Amino acid sequence: MARSWSLLLPFALALVASVAQAAVVEHTFNVGNLSISQLCQPEMIITAVNGQLPGPTIVASEGDTVVVHMVNESPYNATIHWHGIFQRGTPWADGPAMVTQCPVLPGGNYTYRFNVTGQEGTLWWHSHFSFLRATVYGALIIKPRGGAKAYPFPKPDEEKVVVLGEWWNASVYDLQQNALHTGQPAPPANAYTINGKPGDFYNCSALNQTHKFELKQNKTYMLRIINAALNTPLFFKVANHSFTVVAADACYTKPYKTDVVVISPGQTVDAFLVPDAGVAAVGGRYYMAVIPYNSAVNALNPEFLYSLTTGSAVVEYAGSVTTLPPVRPQLPQYNDTATVHRFLSNLTALVPNRVPLAVDTHMFVTVSMGDTVCGPDQTMCMPNPPINGTIFASSMNNASLILPKNTSMLEALYHNNADGVYTRDFPDTPPLVFDYTADASDTATLKFTTKSTKVKTLPYNSTVQMVLQNTRLVSKESHPMHLHGFNFFVLAQDFGNYNETTDPAKFNLVDPQERNTVAVPTGGWAVIRFVADNPGMWFMHCHFDAHLDFGLGMVFEVQDGPTAETSLPPPPSDLPQC
Ligand code: C2O
Repeated sequence: MARSWSLLLPFALALVASVAQAAVVEHTFNVGNLSISQLCQPEMIITAVNGQLPGPTIVASEGDTVVVHMVNESPYNATIHWHGIFQRGTPWADGPAMVTQCPVLPGGNYTYRFNVTGQEGTLWWHSHFSFLRATVYGALIIKPRGGAKAYPFPKPDEEKVVVLGEWWNASVYDLQQNALHTGQPAPPANAYTINGKPGDFYNCSALNQTHKFELKQNKTYMLRIINAALNTPLFFKVANHSFTVVAADACYTKPYKTDVVVISPGQTVDAFLVPDAGVAAVGGRYYMAVIPYNSAVNALNPEFLYSLTTGSAVVEYAGSVTTLPPVRPQLPQYNDTATVHRFLSNLTALVPNRVPLAVDTHMFVTVSMGDTVCGPDQTMCMPNPPINGTIFASSMNNASLILPKNTSMLEALYHNNADGVYTRDFPDTPPLVFDYTADASDTATLKFTTKSTKVKTLPYNSTVQMVLQNTRLVSKESHPMHLHGFNFFVLAQDFGNYNETTDPAKFNLVDPQERNTVAVPTGGWAVIRFVADNPGMWFMHCHFDAHLDFGLGMVFEVQDGPTAETSLPPPPSDLPQC
């Protein structure tokens, strides 16, 4: 490479302020039907944006305004969430149904308008209603204001978007309704996909169902990898290639060399694709492949959670002999937690010394699977209460979230009328201290939870530290916890129970990775820290839709600051009504 990695200025934003005027990037998203056949199934109708799977890629530059006119031509309620966008001053454009807006009804429309300021890298967008994001998703790329030459690493010759997904031979809306009514998780996906296509390793993959990346020898490529799968963390490899990671969740990292990328739903990774010595000389054809990381320990039926299959694409160098089959990569074991932990805990921020050192609010929050007893008002159990009277529920600090039905939480906040919509008693600690990760806790009555809509209220500009503690109730599992409206620093992560006396010594307060989604280690914990400088209602939840539906979430209510710019703006006039 022509330029040395170390000589480049990190974050050259200051240099480039004068380079180009901010632009308006405008799109129309028609959420509607797409007729498609995968895995040799008969054509079926799915919900997609502009008839594409994945949907359109939005490309903007730092500082631009993005305007998306969303038209709902589907038979379902719909919203779009701009995953990882801070939405400073535009909380009404965040998108989660019933948190920041009522959904757009069939036939309705809504214009999302927001700035991409102070953020660069790979983000994405997806539906935030029911399981529709299984097919309603796409990339959202923010380039530096000064263009590719302003990257804090050597400019790649080309960039490739790699969106990972899950595919069901069924209506995902029906799957979600069925899961809600039975309290049982939806079945595993029929396939993992790369840029919408399952690839060659399924029983019945037709010719046009493998995505192909065409590369040239001696050129450099940066992959923008997005895990848009509904419920599955993934291992990602390319045969005879390794990677240099340069960013995660649109935050630059120190260059990190690895032969495998680990990516949980909601996360993104930007990585250079580095050919092995022989490949650089001869080119050839190679499989890019994904398999699930099955983190569940002692799950009731782990095989049921994931389909143990391989999604793939082909990486083909120009001029290669196409009659030879592509080379297959060696993939980790499905439960290779050591490899996951190595990758996720080794990433560090490119720019040091950005962590706020004083903490105003300390929270210790359990993230758990559990059960709930069906009561007369628990719609999750309707219309078919299960025979033993309990269903799956998941919770944070034993509170299992249920979203309001008639008013969005942000409207309730804005109109100062939380009554009957939410309560301000999300607890800072679990109701009971117990051995969170011991096998014996599996059958404890602690696993019983109840439904509620609780928020944690934060004063403007307060610094929050949250310990996320996984539990062994029902099953240990690595939950990808996503926060809307903010990035957070991941100070430390490890296995077992968090020890508040000894574990703070493990905190990286110098250059911790910054993310919007942290995969809490299975049977372990992660500590995050962020500054609540963005007034609004900000969802925090597990990015497995199956767990989100069972209640694995909470909401931060961030109060107004002292000025008009730091206060909630009024809702846009076209905000959908329930
Ligand atoms: Cu990408 Cu609330 O999610």
